[in-house]
Amino acid sequence: MAETEVRVLAKSDHRAAHDLARAAHHTPPISDAEWAYVGDLHEPGLALGAFLGGELVGTTRLLRSRLALPGGATVPMAAATGNGVRADRTRRGVFTRLERESLALAVEQGFSVVGSRVSEATIYRRFGHGVGNLSRAVRLYPQEARLRPEVHRGGEVRLIDGESSISLLPRVYERLGPYRPGVIGRSAAWWKAKWEPLVRSGKGPVVAVHSGPDGDDGFVVYRAMRSGDSGARVTLMVTDFHAANAEAVAGLWRFLLGVDLVEEVCVRRRPTDELVEGMLVNWRACRTHSLDDDLWLRLVDLPKALDARAYGDGDPLVLEVIDELLPANSGSFRISPDGVEPTLDQAQLSLNVDALAMVYLGTTSFATLAGIGDLRMTDGKALPNADRLFGTRTAAFCGTTF
Ligand SMILES: CC(C)(COP(=O)(O)OP(=O)(O)OC[C@H]1O[C@@H](n2cnc3c(N)ncnc32)[C@H](O)[C@@H]1OP(=O)(O)O)[C@@H](O)C(=O)NCCC(=O)NCCS
Repeated sequence: MAETEVRVLAKSDHRAAHDLARAAHHTPPISDAEWAYVGDLHEPGLALGAFLGGELVGTTRLLRSRLALPGGATVPMAAATGNGVRADRTRRGVFTRLERESLALAVEQGFSVVGSRVSEATIYRRFGHGVGNLSRAVRLYPQEARLRPEVHRGGEVRLIDGESSISLLPRVYERLGPYRPGVIGRSAAWWKAKWEPLVRSGKGPVVAVHSGPDGDDGFVVYRAMRSGDSGARVTLMVTDFHAANAEAVAGLWRFLLGVDLVEEVCVRRRPTDELVEGMLVNWRACRTHSLDDDLWLRLVDLPKALDARAYGDGDPLVLEVIDELLPANSGSFRISPDGVEPTLDQAQLSLNVDALAMVYLGTTSFATLAGIGDLRMTDGKALPNADRLFGTRTAAFCGTTF
């Protein structure tokens, strides 16, 4: 069988690769009109193609972004996307080759982490990716979901038209900054590819922006979906909801639950520690629809990635991380609130790089990792200390698709 060759794609190959990935996801080739929006989201030097016998049979690509960490710092993150192998060339190691090259490319380009959103959750752990955060999908019925009087009033909420949102929404998002661990940067190319076509599609996404004492500090995007002929049953499907503080969160929920003629409000992605139930007179008027893996993380530069986040009050911990795919990335680190340094000392706890992704943003505890067989211990007393160091006050949340 011919050897798979993986190489960085020339700009002229980007569209064919994009169509290949679409076909792998059962989507027809992109139109010229759509490509005009999406083309820039293929960054030069960051799209890979796999070739068998000279033919393009698989692809993956990276986008430049940044990931917010506990403590408020950000690290360079490569957002990996567009993974696909031609259906007649699967299960012969094409993606494995692509994945290896893509991780090597991420290292070479100076990224600390690779972030992904995965449509198949069984494939990625073997390559060192792990679930970085969870998000919750909720459903509320405004008729019964009244807010308690103690809940913040929030500031001013205003609707903005689609055209204005094209320039305003990126500025509002930028303004929110790394307001939670897990939040990622959205480039100009991201907004052009993901937001502009939606506005121009005529599908009418509605944008509401919240302003507090310091200006715009949150927004929601939703679509009103009508089902049945009577016209009475309207569901607000909220697709994007970001708010930098508790007042903005409350103000935007107050707005959503107050829109007239709405039977149901569905929000696909919310932070797991946002206690909407507690804001309501009737606790059960908010139902969790699902709890999902959100952003997957693959730490490719452990010294930088570990050192960039803040740690809670705890004693120094020696943690060993094993990275079988990138052996140079393996090592032991002394981690304390003062910083992180490589060490040759005996490790107290040891785990694989995919398991580290689960504790990196504070989403999972070391105690939980131990319970599910993802942690090796030489010093059992190190466990509560590790949780004091890595634990966070706010749940990580991403809420951006790519
Ligand atoms: C998923 C996909 C990229 C895998 O490509 P591939 O070239 O067949 O993958 P490989 O042959 O390198 O397989 C890598 C490993 O993952 C496993 N694997 C691959 N696809 C899998 C799937 N859909 N479900 C479960 N395991 C899978 C393989 O069995 C193999 O495991 P092994 O090393 O233990 O044998 C390809 O099948 C595809 O494009 N699917 C449709 C689009 C898609 O699902 N994209 C990725 C989701 S984000």
